[in-house]
Amino acid sequence: MSTNAQSPIGVFDSGIGGLTVVRALMERLPYENIVYFGDTARVPYGVKSVDTITHFTTQIAQFLLEKDVKLLVIACNTMAAVASHVVKDLSSVPVLDVIDAGAVSARGGKRIGVIGTPTTINSNAYARAIHEYAPDSRIHSQACALFVPLVEEGWLDHEVTRLTAQDYLKPLMAERIDTLVLGCTHYPLLKPLLSQVVGEGVNLVDSAEAMAEQVARLLADKKLANPGPAQPRYDFHVTDVPLRFQTIGERFLGRSLNNVHMVKW
Ligand code: DGL
Repeated sequence: MSTNAQSPIGVFDSGIGGLTVVRALMERLPYENIVYFGDTARVPYGVKSVDTITHFTTQIAQFLLEKDVKLLVIACNTMAAVASHVVKDLSSVPVLDVIDAGAVSARGGKRIGVIGTPTTINSNAYARAIHEYAPDSRIHSQACALFVPLVEEGWLDHEVTRLTAQDYLKPLMAERIDTLVLGCTHYPLLKPLLSQVVGEGVNLVDSAEAMAEQVARLLADKKLANPGPAQPRYDFHVTDVPLRFQTIGERFLGRSLNNVHMVKW
């Protein structure tokens, strides 16, 4: 197996959500080839056990390594929360995960709110990661299980979503947070609504954008950045029939989605 600057970046997620990271990568690094894996047959991961998620994550990482990727990006916060060490142990190429990227971006905060799926929040992974960069900060976490289905339903600016957000964020606002980490792939799509709910004084940390910055830095440091100018190739692998992935995915990606392949496991 050999990788070089032309090799693709491998990005993976439990389903559609990681496309927010792909979008940020496409914007930040327009010459990079990308291979994406979304486990659409088994999503959602955010309510599953650590053992199950670890097993699925290992399978996906191995699949992408066989595609000779030069870098693995764990785009799913839930997988990053409970299984990033497993990926790092088995991978022959560098591994980046959204939790570390989000934690680095949150380090300026003093009272930091973190929102994510129940599994991500229960793992405490964000609090641990943020404390590494900002040991004096206070972290307040809140699981927001309903946000994933609301985003997939396209209710990005819907009254139901607004009321749900107000309810979830009430305890964090009571702690007068100055920073809110969007600790789930789906939440960047709720950014306009969430910033209205928390107000302008709260800094929203989008881990997809933070990840694109980390990838750019790592590729430059390792001299692995694709110099272009060839048209990059984007391939998407999913485990269920691609129709839903394609329709909803275009909203996440902000452009049309082609080269979607179904993997039968
Ligand atoms: N991708 C997941 C995350 O970022 C959200 C969807 C799921 O629960 O699988 O946590």
